Amino acid sequence: MADCFRLDGKTVAVIGAGSGIGAACARTAATQGARVVCLDIDADAAAATATAITGSGGAATAAGVDVTHGGATDAVLAGIAATHGRLDGVVCTPSINVRKALLHYADDEFDRVVHLNLKGSFNVVRAAGRVMVPQGSGSIVIFSSIRSVVVEPGQSVYAMTKAGIVQLVRGAACEFGTSGVRVNALAPGVVDTPLTAPIRANRGWYEAYAAKSILGRWAQPQEMAGPTVFLLTDAASFVTGTVLYADGGWLAADGRFVPPGV
Ligand SMILES: NC(=O)c1ccc[n+]([C@@H]2O[C@H](COP(=O)([O-])OP(=O)(O)OC[C@H]3O[C@@H](n4cnc5c(N)ncnc54)[C@H](O)[C@@H]3O)[C@@H](O)[C@H]2O)c1
Repeated sequence: MADCFRLDGKTVAVIGAGSGIGAACARTAATQGARVVCLDIDADAAAATATAITGSGGAATAAGVDVTHGGATDAVLAGIAATHGRLDGVVCTPSINVRKALLHYADDEFDRVVHLNLKGSFNVVRAAGRVMVPQGSGSIVIFSSIRSVVVEPGQSVYAMTKAGIVQLVRGAACEFGTSGVRVNALAPGVVDTPLTAPIRANRGWYEAYAAKSILGRWAQPQEMAGPTVFLLTDAASFVTGTVLYADGGWLAADGRFVPPGV
């Protein structure tokens, strides 16, 4: 069983590899033996992650891609398969959040969030499927969030997209499954990354989020990499169409208070 947690000989594309959780996933996939292609709209940031990987003995290259462009996303993933002979894993992290009350949400803010989070994720699932289904194997991991299940004021649009990603993943898992392609969602709790920098800057908000998880703290980006890489490996060979919550127990407890005497 030990080898089923490794990625030796596999080619894995990580989109969003220039920052936060994507960078951590790329590094961990390489540590587990994968040849990693680091992709990001910020090509320099993707290249920096690839350089860090090769500097510590791993195998990585990098390229730029904007996942909101379907044709470009198709081309980059097909190109990886052509160069390396196959594409075994795709991880997709890019998303944005505009935290704002629904009544004050502007049209262009709605469009930006939905365009990247939903259309970008769709473009990646479709492009990965177009390579992996004919290949007859592969694993796709798309990033959702605890916000697919629970919300708070100011999160309506982001939460809507994260719930939509879950159904996208389930639909793709249904369509790709008999071709040997697995599709899953990873749903983090709160993770210290540039995406959540505005929260870190507000001490009360930061501490309230820490207290909400059972573990009483935020996650570091690398704590999302283990669950993600697991989904890429043969150890997860019967795991598809599911949501893996890496949330420090956020969803398990209502977190209101500890009853007296307990
Ligand atoms: N950080 C958290 O607390 C948290 C919590 C729940 C869910 N998530 C989810 O985890 C995922 C990763 O979050 P993160 O905190 O690492 O974000 P991040 O902002 O640190 O990184 C996102 C990366 O995506 C890239 N990107 C943006 N637009 C792109 C595009 N059009 N094409 C290609 N690349 C693009 C950015 O350049 C950046 O490198 C997101 O889907 C987010 O919703 C994060």
